[in-house]
Amino acid sequence: MRDAPPSAPPIALLAELTHRCPLACPYCSNPLDLLAREAELDTDAWARIFDQAAALGVLQVHLSGGEPASRRDLEALVAAARRAGLYVNLITSGIGLTEARLDALEAAGVDHVQLSLQGVTAAMADRIGGYKGGYDRKLAIARSITARGLPLTLNAVMHRENIGDLRQAIDFAADLGARRIEVACVQFYGWALKNRSALQPTRAQVDEAKRVVEAARPQYHGRMVLDFVPPDYYADYPKACMGGWGSTGLNIAPDGTVLPCHAAATLPGLVFPKATEVPLADIWYRSAAFDAYRGEDWMQEPCRSCDRRHIDHGGCRCQALALAGDARAADPVCRHSAHRGVVDRLLADVPVGDSPAFAYRR
Ligand code: FES
Repeated sequence: MRDAPPSAPPIALLAELTHRCPLACPYCSNPLDLLAREAELDTDAWARIFDQAAALGVLQVHLSGGEPASRRDLEALVAAARRAGLYVNLITSGIGLTEARLDALEAAGVDHVQLSLQGVTAAMADRIGGYKGGYDRKLAIARSITARGLPLTLNAVMHRENIGDLRQAIDFAADLGARRIEVACVQFYGWALKNRSALQPTRAQVDEAKRVVEAARPQYHGRMVLDFVPPDYYADYPKACMGGWGSTGLNIAPDGTVLPCHAAATLPGLVFPKATEVPLADIWYRSAAFDAYRGEDWMQEPCRSCDRRHIDHGGCRCQALALAGDARAADPVCRHSAHRGVVDRLLADVPVGDSPAFAYRR
């Protein structure tokens, strides 16, 4: 624990309510070691966390998973978060939701729904999700969400299998009445990292995707927001992961472990406290884990003297560990990183023909 607190409280809390999920998407960022139902916090424990988060300054909670609808108490959790004064965003595949549950979620005060889209055809969506019939159920729920006037964001994770359908995905979101589509090129954590060679798009696919997004923007201007998260391996500079470690948001795993990001548990040498054992404010302001990569003191060269260190904060610690074997290294995506060759070699090895088989999340 340290003495001097960081200047700002967190804005957002990602609450991973469960790792259970009826889908088995190979791009999932959940850890390979999924937590069992028995390890999950109960309703009251989450309600206490929401109260603490609001007192700490958190404004919005993202209820995520796994599939949050796998929890029978989802409606009670939404109500608890709203009672705490939080803006509630439900991140869901839609599987497990029904008209009756949507009624209850509306009554509980859910503010926004973010629905995942695995593909724009039943064949593609059900194959990526590993769940037959999932597409039709998702479509029905999406229509019901917009018919109720609930704000809907469609979250389309794009990869080499479905990125060719990007234009259809954008039009699909608009036809559904979504207010926003987030086109997120797959990021390699958890199950996605395990499936990297099957999911990594080619450079030609990425260039075409950028062209498609730019062409669609004017058409949907003022009607639907179009966010594009480019694939960072093809970038010259890394993303500012989490807006900087321990600076704007925190994640809580199903068992109450509090993490600065969804993959932080992969980092060696850090002890992450549980929200059921340590007050959230102490974890945020005084834990060694949240302090580990805050600011710039931890940086090595080339980050330490780089002009971009205030922009990208050295990139992603978890990616530095995964690709360079050193969480303190510059994110190897960076052109100035001594490990950029690792990324370039991975991109040179992207298959151009058939993809390797998926390792489905189970
Ligand atoms: Fe952990 Fe980027 S995912 S710092």
